[in-house]
Amino acid sequence: MKKVLIIDFGGQTVQLIAKIIRKKHVYCEVFSWRADYEKIAEYNPDAIILSGGNDSTYRENSPALDERVFDLGVPVLGICYGMHYLARINGGVVNQGTVGEFGRTEIIVKNNELFKGISKKFNCWMSHFDSVQKLPEGFSAIATSKDCAVAAYECKKRKIYAVQFHPEVVNCDNGEKILENFLKIAQIKGDWYLGNFIDITVNEIREKVGKGKVLCALSGGVDSAVAATLVHKAVGSQLVCVYVDHGLMRKNETEQIIKTFKEERGFNLVVVRAEEQFLTKLSGVTDPEKKRKIIGEEFIRVFEKEAKKIGTVDYLVQGTIYPDVIESGSGSGEVIKSHHNVGGLPSVIDFKGIIEPVRNLFKDEVRKVGLELGLPENIVGRQPFPGPGLAVRVLGELTKERLDILRDADAILREEVAKAGYDKKIWQYFAVLTPVRSVGVMGDKRTYGNLVALRAINSTDGMTGDWVRIPYELLDKISRRITNECKDVNRVVYDITAKPPATIEWE
Ligand code: XMP
Repeated sequence: MKKVLIIDFGGQTVQLIAKIIRKKHVYCEVFSWRADYEKIAEYNPDAIILSGGNDSTYRENSPALDERVFDLGVPVLGICYGMHYLARINGGVVNQGTVGEFGRTEIIVKNNELFKGISKKFNCWMSHFDSVQKLPEGFSAIATSKDCAVAAYECKKRKIYAVQFHPEVVNCDNGEKILENFLKIAQIKGDWYLGNFIDITVNEIREKVGKGKVLCALSGGVDSAVAATLVHKAVGSQLVCVYVDHGLMRKNETEQIIKTFKEERGFNLVVVRAEEQFLTKLSGVTDPEKKRKIIGEEFIRVFEKEAKKIGTVDYLVQGTIYPDVIESGSGSGEVIKSHHNVGGLPSVIDFKGIIEPVRNLFKDEVRKVGLELGLPENIVGRQPFPGPGLAVRVLGELTKERLDILRDADAILREEVAKAGYDKKIWQYFAVLTPVRSVGVMGDKRTYGNLVALRAINSTDGMTGDWVRIPYELLDKISRRITNECKDVNRVVYDITAKPPATIEWE
């Protein structure tokens, strides 16, 4: 299998480069620029892409690679900072230009393998002040823009290519084609398919586990579900999954999990009914941070108790995915954030090792693997859902009654959004039960009922987001159904705040 290595110089769009390369069915990994030469040599890439970054190559201690990497003799593509870096280490000059270029910029390209099949003039996406002022010996410019004499260059003999712009962003015309052309220059044909991934991963897990016992905390989330399913395919009943029903899940979610994993797939699934235990601990607690803390601690306690009943465990499965593994440029690229659903578990359970079957996959790839494994859409397409569940969506004190009201309202919202075909267009949507009561009139009776808020957000990673302009007709339908069908709810509002300044969840 041919492999591309992407060196992260601290750019904001590194993951986009990786996603495009993988979309071309070429396996790639992202290493920080701090990665050791030995690690890079061991990875043995067939081509290297150097990302952009927010530093300047001429500053002291700016990101740099161990230059032995270039002795590997594989084709290299530099992007923005990567371009400046390649120019400098080969004897070129990089300086701050008189004007920067930001956003859509027209460039004119020369006849070149990198731009094969692309019009001579097109709009790319620039974001730079620095530029290459003088090219190294043997290098030549292959693109120019109004304010940038070297918008791209090549050194054909050494298969070095570089672009000042960002081919990985959607606003760059022909960006994907340029990356594809680079793969062609490197003679890399796409041979990485998720089907192969499943076979290879299942075999690896089988080999690693042997006759050992594996434990997995199943949360209903897509990552842990796919991870567990891969392990189950590999070692069957040697895998024990524990699902803790803390009473904070959405309507029918627990039943769905039991049906999918235990009934349909024959998982060795332990379902811990701990609703009462969690609600007792949470009784009288209104502070959001306290709620989260109690839920996290209680989860570990319950899980630990179940794990003890199971006896010796050799491996723990975690649903870590690639964005958790990649730490932007400044780090080592090896820092693993523990998956929130099993956060803290490694310290309380004695085991030999961790199995992270989807560690090298992006979210959309995890979903594709899930579909290939035959997991249902309601698991594979599941929206992000907070670890503390509905506890952070019932504001104020939690009671079973209030959780049930929210569950009903939330189920109506989800049903209507799906019916209208909006479920695939919205990143995350949910209902919130507020502690506000307001006066209403139903029939000819005065009511003093609950206020439900609806939230729908589009985002790519949850870090920022905008509220979704759901059609009024759809909001109207949802509002009518909620006030008609949910106990003690007489008012529905729609949250029209972006993140920032608000967060996505209300608590
Ligand atoms: P906020 O509310 O911080 O949420 O804007 C950003 C994204 O993270 C989810 N979220 C959580 N996910 N454990 C999680 O795994 C949590 O405690 C948690 N809190 C918020 C939230 O649903 C949104 O997608």
